[in-house]
Parts: sequence; structure tokens; C-alpha cells
Amino acid sequence: MTRISLTVDGSLVADDVEPRMLLVQYLRERLGKTGTVIGCDTSNCGACTVHLDGTSVKSCNVLAVQADGSEVTTIEGLAQGEELHPVQEAFRECHGLQCGFCTPGMIMQSVSLLAENPQPTEQEIRLGLEGNLCRCTGYHNIVKAVQQAAGQEVTS
Ligand code: FES
Ligand code: FES
Repeated sequence: MTRISLTVDGSLVADDVEPRMLLVQYLRERLGKTGTVIGCDTSNCGACTVHLDGTSVKSCNVLAVQADGSEVTTIEGLAQGEELHPVQEAFRECHGLQCGFCTPGMIMQSVSLLAENPQPTEQEIRLGLEGNLCRCTGYHNIVKAVQQAAGQEVTS
């Protein structure tokens, strides 16, 4: 076992973990942060995306021990109390989800994308989200949601 301590969604946590434990397992199984989901076993789907020290990462591709000393934000840490994050609000308003399985990762990746490029073109949004797969929406409303969150005019 290895001792780790990190901040997750604003709370300091410390635990003994197996060195092979994945960050996504740690978040879900130890901390009960089941908003971060597992959609594949190939590091392809992006459903498990969280922010690690401000950078989006696929948490199935990071060991819990690698997050030692870091700050992790999950989908559960985005809202401010009852107030949704603007990107969450935009996904809701633009119907950027259907089954919702990809949505936590999509939103976390979209937040990162907009932090790096506050006024992305449609092409840049599609490229920025290419590591996140959605089986339901055809991506159209997801792109619209990101455009809306960026304050851009959204046409149907
Ligand atoms: S569960 Fe992490 S990329 Fe699919
Ligand atoms: S909304 Fe179902 S996978 Fe994206």
C-alpha cells in the first residue's frame, strides 16, 4: 500500500492505496464519486475525464498514486451549490445529451477546451472533443452547447 493525499472537489483526502489502483477506481470506489464513469477498457471513450491540476485527463489512464499531492476536480465539483457551471447549464439548455453516459467526461473536457480557447471555432470544438465518444447525440447538440457556453450565437 502507498499513502496518498490529494484534494478532490475542494476536500482534502488521504488514503492508503494499492500502487496499481487507477484514479477512476479511487474516485468511484473509495470516495463514492460515481459521477465519473467508466465507458471502456481501452482509454478511448473519455467518459472518465477529470481535471488533474487544471488539466483534463482520462482518469482510467492515471494511477491514483500519480495524483498524490494534486488537485482533482470531477463533474461533482463543478457546480457551485445549486448553481450549475455555465457549461453544465449550456448542455442542459441545448439538449447536449441523451442517455447521459458520456456527459460527465464531455463536460469536463469542454470546460478545459474553453479554458484554453475561450472562442473556439466549430472545427476546434470538434477537434477538442475528439477523445470523447458519444453513441447517442451525433455530437451536433454537444457542439452547440459548447458554442453557447462560449457566448457564441447558436443556430439550430
Ligand atoms: S473509461 Fe477512461 S477512456 Fe474510457
Ligand atoms: S448521450 Fe449517450 S453516449 Fe452520449
